[in-house]
This record gives sequence, C-alpha cells and structure tokens, in this order.
Amino acid sequence: MFDSKSFIEKSKGEMQKQIGGERALCALSGGVDSTVCAVLASKAIGSSLRAVFIDTGFMREDEPAWVKKHLDKMGVNLRVFDARERFISALEGHSDAEEKRKIFRDTFYKLFGEIVREEKCKILIQGTIAPDWIETKGGIKSQHNVLSQIGIDPEKEFGYKVVEPLLQLYKDQVRLVGKELGLSEELYARQPFPGPGLLVRVVGEVRRDKVEDTRKAIAVVEEGLKGLSPPPQQYFAAILDSKGKISEKISKEAGEFLGEKAKATVLDARGTGVTGDIRRYGKVVLIDSKSTDYMALNKTQFEIVSRNKDDVSRVLLVLKSQKEGKYIAAIRSIQTRDFMTVVITKIPFELLNSMAEEILGRCPNVKAVAYELTPKPPATVEFE
Ligand code: XMP
Repeated sequence: MFDSKSFIEKSKGEMQKQIGGERALCALSGGVDSTVCAVLASKAIGSSLRAVFIDTGFMREDEPAWVKKHLDKMGVNLRVFDARERFISALEGHSDAEEKRKIFRDTFYKLFGEIVREEKCKILIQGTIAPDWIETKGGIKSQHNVLSQIGIDPEKEFGYKVVEPLLQLYKDQVRLVGKELGLSEELYARQPFPGPGLLVRVVGEVRRDKVEDTRKAIAVVEEGLKGLSPPPQQYFAAILDSKGKISEKISKEAGEFLGEKAKATVLDARGTGVTGDIRRYGKVVLIDSKSTDYMALNKTQFEIVSRNKDDVSRVLLVLKSQKEGKYIAAIRSIQTRDFMTVVITKIPFELLNSMAEEILGRCPNVKAVAYELTPKPPATVEFE
C-alpha cells in the first residue's frame, strides 16, 4: 500500500539533499502534478523556492488567476509570466502533432532557461510522473516534460539541473500526496490537465481562432459535467477541422450496427491512437445518426476501427450541427483508474445535447458538435 505520509518525508529529505541550499525554480501548469510538486517543494526548501506559472495562452479560461489564488492560500508565492504571444507565434501554422509538441517543449524550456537565469536559480523542479516517461520512452508520444529519460541533458541543453520528486508515482498516488499536504479537494481531485495544455486539443493546424474556440468549448464541457455522478476522471473538448469525405462503405457498416440510417464522414483531421505499445496516428470518422443506444454505438465504433485498422483511430457521433462553420467540436469524457486504459462515460443524451447547443452558441466557427465514442486503446485520451 502506498503511504503518502512517509513518501512526503522521504522525498523532502531527498530534495533537500539534491538541491543543497541552492535557489530552485518550480513551474506550474495548473495541473494536479505540478501543483502537488510545487507545494511539496515549498515544504522541503521553503524560501529557496521560486514558483512560476507560464501563461502559454494554451490554458483553460481564467486558469492563471485561479491557480495563483489557490497557491497563495497554500503559502506558495507564484509569479505569473505572460508568454502568450511567444507561444502562439511559434506554433501558428504548424499541423503535425509531434512537431507541435516539440515546438511547445522547446519554446517552454528556452523561456525557462531565461527565467532560471533571471531568478538566479540553477535547478528546475518539475512534476513529471511515471506514465509521462513510460509513454514517451515507449514512443507513444513526446510528453513535453520528459527530457533526461530520452537522452536530453537539460544542464547542457538549457543550463539547469532538473529535480523530479514525483517520477515514480501514478496519478492516484499524486492525489493522495496532495491530500496529505493539505491541498483543498478542489485542487488535488482536479481532473488532469496536460502540460502542453490546449495544444493537444487543437487538432491539426494551429490558428488563433481555433485556440479560442477550444478554450470556450472546454469551459462549457467542464461546467456541464462537473456535477455528474459518479464523476468522470477527465472531460473536455477538442476542436478539429471539419473538412472530410463521406464514406459509403463506413456509412453502410454504421447503419447496419446502429439499426438506424447513418452517414459517415472521414475527416481529413487525424488523431492519436495506441495499439499495444505503439502510437499511431489515424483518421477520425464522424457518424451522423439518430441512435442514442450506447451498446449499439460502442459496437459500431469497435467494428469501424477493427475493419479499418490501419486507417481509423477514432469514431465520433454528431450531436448537433449548423450550416456555417469550419470546425468540429468533439466532447470527450472518460472513466479510468490509471489513464493507461479508459472507457467513455455514458452521458445522458439530454445533457450532451444541451452542451452541444451551448458550444454552437459560444463558438462562432464551430459547425458541428460531436461525442467521442472511442476508448483507450485504440484511441488515446487526448486527440494528439
Ligand atoms: P493520453 O492522451 O496519452 O493521456 O492517453 C493520458 C493522460 O495524460 C495526459 N497527457 C499529458 N500530460 N503532458 C502532460 O503533462 C502531456 O504531454 C500529456 N499528454 C497527455 C492526458 O490529459 C491524460 O490525462
């Protein structure tokens, strides 16, 4: 059994040894891991810690102010650094998921190097956890916070040493540590938020209006699902380009399994998936049907992915659409223990439809709102 109390004691001692009286910088993204890491570091090294929140512009609505308020309450003095323009200019126009992650990582760590020097720190403390480096090493995806495990020497490359106290923990253990440290439930039970933020939810080419629509759609989903019981472990929206082609073959297959007329569009957009330990990058199929039968929908997504294995990684069900618009907003909600495998939440259709209505109202460029039907595997939790 994991004992959070003794973990905290042991890791405080280890951090004090590793840091040895130097000033250290800790970066927060607003996610559970980096928040727990910052509070743990503050307990270990007190006033030698500088905590920074880089506003990359790929954050949820009002995130910087929310995080600052909560960290202040925990006695951690947070400096918010506005780097929105720097990130969007580096990423605008780029489409490839891995390339985007790498640009994000490089922009992040270069800026970090500057802040580390400005704050006269030689050490960076970050909240990398076990699945981050397991999936990056396994080639499933490049988590932006994984460096030394894939052969990048941060001292040589960026000019500082990295300390990672949560490296061996899984998410549920990180939450226990947060609880033990005295974080409010709102903080330690918070759904995970990926380090690269909204970037992994802006599918394909990065554009400023697309980032804004993603942020608004996520706000609608977070508000709509926060009271759901039992609570899903993660719920958000992603935005994809709506261009695609109708597939007669998949329309026919979907119609058979659903027992309803169905139209299947294969989008040009691609989403990440995982088969065994191999990451793949497949097409996204959009099903337009009146079916609200989760058993039939589940079978349909399974059959479509199995019959088009090398091609299709995800199947979405259209909820509401309108005439104009260039984007599809995909609602994603999942249940899981460890985030390595997940199932989708069977959200009542009335609730899904009301969120879809609201997203169409708030996001002028969104043409249709859909619900993501694919578990992990074969999809990943995030779209990229
Ligand atoms: P995937 O998409 O890999 O997500 O099935 C599993 C969990 O990890 C989160 N995630 C990330 N977290 N940096 C992070 O800190 C990342 O690059 C990243 N990519 C995915 C995801 O939100 C989910 O909770």
